Order: sequence, then structure tokens, then C-alpha cells
Amino acid sequence: MADFELGSNFIPTLHKPSALLPIAKHHDSLLYLIEKNPVTIVVGQTGSGKTTQIPQFLEHAGWCSDGKIIGVTQPRRVAATTVAVRVAEEYGCELGKEVGYSIRFEDVTSAATRIKFLTDGLLIREALVDPLLSRYAVIMVDEAHERSISTDILLGLLKKIRKRRPELRIIISSATLQAEDYLRFFSQQPENRESREGVTGSIGSIISLEGRMYPVDVLYLEAPTEDYVEKAISTVFDIHTHEAEGDVLVFLTGREEIDKAVQVVAERSAQLPPASQAILALPLYAGLSTEQQMFVFDNPPENTRKVIFSTNIAEASVTIDGIVYVVDSGFVKLRAFDPQTGIEALTATPVSKAAASQRAGRAGRTKPGKCFRLYTERNFQTLPDANIPEIQRSNLAPFVLQLKALGIDNVVRFDYLTPPPAELMIKATELLFSLGALDEYAKLTKPLGTRMAELAVEPMMAKTLLTASSFGCLSEVLTIAAMTSLGGSIWVQREGEKKQVESARRKFAAEEGDHLTLLNVYQTFVTKGKKESRFCHENHLNFKAMTRAISIRAQLKRYLERFGISVDESLRTSVGNRGEQIRRCLTTGYFAHAARMQPDGSFRNVEGGMTLYAHPSSLMFNRKADWVVFHEVMETGGKIFIRDITKIEKGWLVEYASGYYQLKQ
Ligand code: CDP
Ligand code: MG
Repeated sequence: MADFELGSNFIPTLHKPSALLPIAKHHDSLLYLIEKNPVTIVVGQTGSGKTTQIPQFLEHAGWCSDGKIIGVTQPRRVAATTVAVRVAEEYGCELGKEVGYSIRFEDVTSAATRIKFLTDGLLIREALVDPLLSRYAVIMVDEAHERSISTDILLGLLKKIRKRRPELRIIISSATLQAEDYLRFFSQQPENRESREGVTGSIGSIISLEGRMYPVDVLYLEAPTEDYVEKAISTVFDIHTHEAEGDVLVFLTGREEIDKAVQVVAERSAQLPPASQAILALPLYAGLSTEQQMFVFDNPPENTRKVIFSTNIAEASVTIDGIVYVVDSGFVKLRAFDPQTGIEALTATPVSKAAASQRAGRAGRTKPGKCFRLYTERNFQTLPDANIPEIQRSNLAPFVLQLKALGIDNVVRFDYLTPPPAELMIKATELLFSLGALDEYAKLTKPLGTRMAELAVEPMMAKTLLTASSFGCLSEVLTIAAMTSLGGSIWVQREGEKKQVESARRKFAAEEGDHLTLLNVYQTFVTKGKKESRFCHENHLNFKAMTRAISIRAQLKRYLERFGISVDESLRTSVGNRGEQIRRCLTTGYFAHAARMQPDGSFRNVEGGMTLYAHPSSLMFNRKADWVVFHEVMETGGKIFIRDITKIEKGWLVEYASGYYQLKQ
């Protein structure tokens, strides 16, 4: 009896029985096809059950009985983690037991794991240690239509591996209809890829799962908007006051916009008439912790409309039930690398038609819905049909390095689904050569190049780490590498606390720039702060992020120890005169990201004369400097910002990167 008094909090979440999902009817034919064909391509709308059900079908059918596992790759970390949580729940196990996930610096799997969700980048990394990926009985490359650079490279590798492991089963799942391209890719020899022949039935087949879709009314703006964030917010309130029940999903481009929108909605909803339905605004983007991401799946409190502000994560990778209204800003942040300037930035770019219709489709999953596009119909007509694959617009240096480490010396002749442009290839090779990872024959150097490929950080940071012991600052650089790998802010700014956060940050500020500031934060956290959450709370620091930094640092340290590089931790307490050594060391890795301050306070990058601005979160924002190196680049509102900036001397560039800058003259 007492059970009934526990309250609604204790009633387990009710899942739609998986038997009702569109995929259920295809259970037998899917298993048959996978058994018979080395490659199976599954096409089906988002929400049909591909990601959550197929691995379970396979596991139940005995594909793991000989100790091998099922791997499901995702282009995004968030998707890997949220989907693993869901499947573990359905499977009825603790996360990390039979069902687990693995993303960079975070492995939640165990000896018991049979279904493993991981990012496609991580699976490529696993191939460095286990070139035939022999632990896997089945590999499902999920969301292949996104054409992330890692997905493309992985498909090329799987094609090679398949020849040596005919028993391996490859499943490619895609929400759009380019299925035949994948099949042709796997069927043909690299030499005659152009010909349309050779698509035999023997290698693979395509199965399409028709999902039930309700009609979605698409509405456009009459005139373009200047500010899509503000427009999105006002549209949410229009929906809330004029439309029937149903949750809202808003597509914006990134964390800053999303945090702002969530905050504004929370403030304005306080002014709603007391009797009306409430609004609960929630963010969804990659920088959130796993727990924070899970909130969007919870049912809202009674008499409350849930509004989720999301990046394009919610476009195809994760499914949120109950969405009836979609608001589409029409923009997405995409990687864009400019070989002229050597700068890769995440840039807000208009979506493609395919993405826009995918977004609209999110409104029609459970009943008829509406999609509000924050652009005109004419504008829609001018959008490209599909996005350019990432491999054609990215900095390829990390991938060239990995391909070389996988023994693929001729990276130009690698079997790509879509080959990257030659100039990107040249640029990547040039950078790797200047970093010392490649020799003049474009062969991987030993040990520097091979070690750089193995380290789980990008090449510039890998070089910095591997040079640090010669500058006597390895312990410090390890910390800096960990702190810059967090992928989110370490500062927590609650409403109305801007001043307090500023002054907390000032306490840790180092004159020389952000890297040494990050080092101060970490060192104070582990010494004076005793790694405690109280210290973080008092200093407006994100405790979870700081704890993660400790874990990442330990993992990087293990890599180095495996290389036989020992880390002297005895010098930890004060940075002292090692500041200059650390900055010199950073220059050996980040010379390609060097810039000089202009009289107006902006920066100009050395290589391409591009104008850059210190990000407001940087210590160098509104401060004087001369030469600097920087870690990260982002574009917001048409301006290019740099983050994690450190002062250097011009002479150091000549000393550590003369080759690189001479190439340009
Ligand atoms: O991969 P696909 O888009 O085909 O579908 P899925 O991710 O396997 O999702 C199947 C169903 O599971 C969806 O309709 C959602 O209702 C549900 N689901 C959920 O409620 N929560 C999640 N974290 C993931 C899926
Ligand atoms: Mg999916």
C-alpha cells in the first residue's frame, strides 16, 4: 500500500513499447539481410528506431555470442551518450555494463559490454591499436547522411577492413535517400568508381523502413528577420498564446544563442498571466553535461509547455517525444577551413533544403504539427539541396596524421566517398611537416609523428605536449592540454552574477594570457581548493568540468608514460619563472595560430592577414598585447573571435617555426 504514497516521482518513465516502432515489422527481414550481406544500408526517417533497436535486435539474435561486440558510431558525442542511456534502460542494465558508450576521454564500458555506442572519430582511433577492429562482430555507422569527416574516413577504412574480414557485418544507417551511393562505394574497386557498373547484389542491400509521418504545416516569414534569436523567442510566445497544446523545438546555432534564449524566455514567461499555462525552456547542445542533456527527455510538470532550444543535434541524432511545433532559424554552425589563412572556424551557415525538411519533420512524429521557418519562402528556394561534406571544408591535418599512422602512406589515393580538394591536402601536409610529424618524403617521423597520432589531442597540442619536457614544463603543459580539451566553459554564470564571475576570474588571471590563467585555476583547485565542490561554488567554477580536467589530465599522462616519458610532478605549486618556458613551448605547437595586435585592438593573423578579435571570455579582451598565439577560433555575428590566447615574442616564431613562415615568402 505504501507504494502509492511515494508520489509521482517514483513512477518509472513509461516508454512507448518498442513493438510499436516502425522498425518492429522489419525485425526478421533486417536480421536476414544482415546475416546474408556484408553491408546493409538502412534508410529510415528519424524516430523509426534505427539507433536504439537494431543493436538490440542483433544482440538478441546472438551476434555477440562469441565474445565479440556490436559497435554503433555517432558523429556527435551527445548522441552517443544520450542514446546509450536510453538503450541501457530498454535493455534493463546499468549504463556501462551490457550497454555502454565511449567518447574521447570518457569510457563507460566494461568487460560485460556487448553494445557499445561511440563516436566515429573514436573508432578510427581504435583502429590504430586494432587495425582490423577485430573486437567487433558488427559495426553500424549511424547518421551517415551527415557526412561528418570522421564518418567518411571510417567508411573508407571499413571498406579496406572488409576485404580482410569477410565475416564482419557493416550497417550504414541514414535518414536520407543517398543509400545507393554507399552501396556503390562498397561494391566498387577504387579504380572504377566512376563507372556505374558493379553494383552487384552480392555485397549488400538496402532496406527502407517507412515510418509514419503526420502532415506538417510549413510557415514562412513574409520579410526576412535581422535577428533570428529574438524572432525565435517571440515566435515561441506566439505559439504559446495562440496554438494548441504541444511542445516546441527551436533550432539555433550554438551555445551562446541558446543560453541567451533560454534565459530570456524564463524572464519573459514570469510576466505571463498567472492562470495561463507555464513555459519551461531547456537548452540542448554538446557542451552540456550528460545529466543536463537528459532533462530534455523528461516530461514537463503539469500544465507546462516544454520549449527546447537546440543545436542541430535534435535534427536527426536524438529524438524528443511530444514535439508538435518546430521553429527553424535557418542556420547551423559548420566547420569552415580557409586554406589561405589557415584558419578553421565554426561558422553560422544557412541550412540546406534537406536539413530544413529534416527539421520540419521533427514536428510531425506523434500528430500533425507546424514548422515556423524564420526566413522567407524565396530564401528557402535559394538554399543548397544538401550540405557540402565536411571533408571538403575542414582542416585535414588530424586525419592525414591518423591515416599515415594507420599505414596509409599515400593519403591522396585513399578510397574516399568524396575526395577532399587538393589544396586542403597540401595545407595539411605542410602543417604536419612544420610540426615535425612528417619528414621531407611525407613519411611519419619516429617517434614524434607516431606519438602525435596516438595522443588524443589535435596535432598542435600534441606537438606542444611532446616538446614540453625539453622546456622543463611538462607537468604544467599537461594541465593546459587538459583544460583546453574540456570543450565547455569552466565558469558558471548564474543570472545577475556577471560582476562576481568577473572578479572571480580576475583572481586567477595571469598577465601572460589565458593558458597560464587556466593553469592557475587548475593548480589552485587541486591544492588550496582540495578538489572540492565548495571551492568551485565560491569561485564560480564548474565543478564537473574541473573534475573532468583532472581525469583528462590523468589520461594524457598515461599516454606519455606509455611512450616512456615521465612526468615530474614535484614542481607543481608555483609556476614561477616557468611561465616563459611554457609560452615558448606553446609557440612550438601553435605557431600556425600566431597573430599580432593592431593599433585598434583587433588582431591580424600572420599567415593570411585575417582580422580576428579576442573573445570576450578571453583575458586578452580589451587588453594590450603585441604577438600572441591562440588555441581556438569561432565566428559569431560575422566576426571571427579567438579564444585561449597567450602572449609570445616575435623572435620565438623565428626560432621555432622559421620553416613554416618561410614557405609563405
Ligand atoms: O535512430 P532513429 O532516428 O531511427 O530512432 P531512435 O533514435 O532509435 O528512436 C526510436 C524511438 O525511441 C523514438 O521514437 C523515441 O520516441 C524514442 N527515444 C526516446 O524516447 N529517448 C531517447 N533518448 C532515444 C529514443
Ligand atoms: Mg538515430
